[in-house]
Amino acid sequence: MDRSDKPRVVLGVSGGIAAYKACELLRRLTESGHDVRVVPTGSALRFVGEPTWAALSGNPVTTGVWEDVHEVPHVRIGQEADLVVVAPATADTLARAAHGLADDLLTNTLLTARCPVVFAPAMHTEMWEHPATAENVATLRRRGAVVIEPAVGRLTGKDTGKGRLPDPGEIFEVCRRLLARGAAPGRDLAGRHVVVSAGGTREPLDPVRFLGNRSSGRQGYALARTAVARGARVTLVAANTSLPDPAGADVVPVGTAVQLREAVLKAAEDADAVVMAAAVADFRPARYAQGKIKKRDGQEPEPVALVRNPDVLAELAGLSAARPGQVVVGFAAETDDVLANGRAKLARKGCDLLVVNEVGEDRTFGAEENEAVVLGADGSETPVPHGPKEALADTVWDKVVHMLNAG
Ligand code: CTP
Repeated sequence: MDRSDKPRVVLGVSGGIAAYKACELLRRLTESGHDVRVVPTGSALRFVGEPTWAALSGNPVTTGVWEDVHEVPHVRIGQEADLVVVAPATADTLARAAHGLADDLLTNTLLTARCPVVFAPAMHTEMWEHPATAENVATLRRRGAVVIEPAVGRLTGKDTGKGRLPDPGEIFEVCRRLLARGAAPGRDLAGRHVVVSAGGTREPLDPVRFLGNRSSGRQGYALARTAVARGARVTLVAANTSLPDPAGADVVPVGTAVQLREAVLKAAEDADAVVMAAAVADFRPARYAQGKIKKRDGQEPEPVALVRNPDVLAELAGLSAARPGQVVVGFAAETDDVLANGRAKLARKGCDLLVVNEVGEDRTFGAEENEAVVLGADGSETPVPHGPKEALADTVWDKVVHMLNAG
């Protein structure tokens, strides 16, 4: 591909210790065919030097507005960009961006850019939670920027808390989604809180055994990722997944159906939409053995008695009646009579939308791709052709946005 055909990405880097992680983001962007111009702040260069950025991007690197003045870079770089991503974004950079300051090349670029802008903040918890930062973030979001929630975990010193830069691979996914959607209504979930459940519950029999299912969580993670890219605040209730946390989502790990119910109902209290993509076990062992169940010579094993688990989706659908405008979405995995079973399940559960897909040993579970039909309580039927799980996720959000805006 000619360089001029490649999507142009500006990677702004500000002066935080997480600047080294932006090298990985840069690699991902260049290796996936983007023309990346790195614009570090002066203090970012104290953490990672100019030669690293220049070598990894293959482009010149400048921080001030007084270099290459004849090319008017302070205007041109922003104008020509298809996406600007600032990672890490320090409290200072967020403040300067929110106030429209233009004292270096990065802030000039942010003022001239008319493309989607992503900030991936990284700082200590106190700085993130300070009202000044909170107001700056709110201002940037109100103006349409995607500000990814920082991850929770180990910070620079011995402390832990909210403020870590999310996994660079996941920041890349947000960028990729925004570029893929181009000028489409990119941030149509801004200001909304959505809850997604993902994965499969495990119902323990004893300390080492459980009843489980084959759900990987990929569809739920794709829903969380696409919702972040569309500007939503996302709570992801994840049952037994082993996927990297989607950047910007608040991930709540759970094990059993009962734990999942508690986490989802709590998060749903102020949610605009709840999407139940998790495979929730319908039954759990009636008895949990405190010690490992042993085999005994000459004795048949004890049968495993099961009891019903709560139906979280049906409960959510019931609760949403008292929450005007809240949209509840279910998933149905069917092996036969897919559409008829889907319609019956939609009515039985009382949700607004039901995504029905056909499953089997080698279909859907753990796969990157999916094929489904989205059924609406209004009788609508939207087939989603075989394709990436993110495409199905975007169709679900399109429908949710439509319902939220209508309600
Ligand atoms: N679900 C739930 N709580 C349960 C079981 C399922 O919230 N105890 C949700 C799932 O997250 C999914 C939807 O219900 O969104 C459909 O689940 P599925 O297992 O396919 O349907 P069932 O109601 O279990 O019906 P059946 O087993 O008869 O197919």
